[in-house]
Amino acid sequence: MNTLILGSGGREHALAYKIAQSPLNDNLYIAPGNAGTPDHGINLDINPTDFVNLKKSILEKKIGLVVVGPEAPLVAGVTDFIESDSDLKNVLVVGPGKLGATLEGSKDFAKEFMYRHGIPTAAYKCFDKNSIEEGKKFLDNLNAPYVLKADGLAAGKGVLILNDLSEAKQELENMLNGKFGKAGDKVVIEEFLSGIELSVFVLTDGDSYMILPEAKDYKRIGEGDSGLNTGGMGAVSPVPFAKGAFLKKVEERIVKPTIEGFKKDGIAYKGFVFIGLMNVNGDPIVIEYNVRMGDPESEVVLPRITSDLLEVLIATGEGRLSEKKLEIDERTATTVMLVSGGYPGDYQKGKVITGLEGVEEAIVFHAGTGFGSTNNGKPIVTNGGRVIAVSALGINMEEALKICYLNIEKIKFEGKYFRKDIGFDLV
Ligand code: AMP
Ligand code: GLY
Repeated sequence: MNTLILGSGGREHALAYKIAQSPLNDNLYIAPGNAGTPDHGINLDINPTDFVNLKKSILEKKIGLVVVGPEAPLVAGVTDFIESDSDLKNVLVVGPGKLGATLEGSKDFAKEFMYRHGIPTAAYKCFDKNSIEEGKKFLDNLNAPYVLKADGLAAGKGVLILNDLSEAKQELENMLNGKFGKAGDKVVIEEFLSGIELSVFVLTDGDSYMILPEAKDYKRIGEGDSGLNTGGMGAVSPVPFAKGAFLKKVEERIVKPTIEGFKKDGIAYKGFVFIGLMNVNGDPIVIEYNVRMGDPESEVVLPRITSDLLEVLIATGEGRLSEKKLEIDERTATTVMLVSGGYPGDYQKGKVITGLEGVEEAIVFHAGTGFGSTNNGKPIVTNGGRVIAVSALGINMEEALKICYLNIEKIKFEGKYFRKDIGFDLV
């Protein structure tokens, strides 16, 4: 099989790493990829939302399977584009169509979906520019903290959690007046949930489903979960508190009704479902859906999958997922993200990265890296806020983290920052 992975982050490097291990893999391409993905395939210089060039490459490279990494091409309709083009009708796609992708693209849509199908989620109401006053009255009737969410995609920045009522009212107004651009044309206000978060991943062909290992992500930039939200600073899988009984509740109350909901609503969904959950006194409550794998969660979830991932992805595309079984490594995987100084605020790019060749036992997943063009060949340089995820497997979390942190010391670039306390709340 010739496979094309769309995207350029640590998640896509992890997908490439797994797919390249498959005996079914003929040629693997990553568009656009990063400086790590050429270890497993060939980078193509195409923007995943440039459908015209995408089609050209799919035909030229005789691609049989497209695996969509990030949400943007899904929300832009890449799956519908491929599936409706008569030249591409034999190409399999892992990633939902535009309608399914709305579960991530619109919080209001996702909340309505959950309400319609009886899936536990925080109570909410949605407001727009014409209902600011109603929104403020709604806030009056809630208790602090107040949770305000821009309806649309806002690069992980569209959620505000505020303790002060008048500040919450002001931010509601700011959001509806364009603070997050079009993403904030509608704002969801919801009840605050108190508990521990975790992420559950499901792969579905629209009919049957497979539950992947769960993971916990560390979103804040600072130690002890302080400071600004990021795309994710590290992750751990499995999550110790997600034992059999809790995961059974997740499957019965959330996963099954979600897949059934797709069928009832006529949402054709072949791909990953990322369910962001809060464990509230032992009960799982959905915070959000994403329509893709998580990043950096992929960097711990995928290394724990011992089955042939490509075989499973092909079966997903072909609607034969029920024939497959997933085998999981019982060990714990951890990942720690190395980021550029200043991230998630402003940061510089193009810093030379050294020491990668000294990494032992750990797996280096490139995220925001690229090839520089100085005179000593083509050094690997930083090319984003989140630069490299260092993952490891160990008999327990402490062991895995030890391997991550030992190897992190060997990797150097100007401004390198990472959290030294990944997993701190799980010991
Ligand atoms: P989201 O983009 O929906 O994942 O929200 C970003 C983060 O805000 C989540 O990972 C949670 O930590 C937090 N969050 C979102 N909704 C709630 C809620 N209803 N109660 C408490 N925390 C929340
Ligand atoms: N790590 C969170 C996400 O991928 O959305």
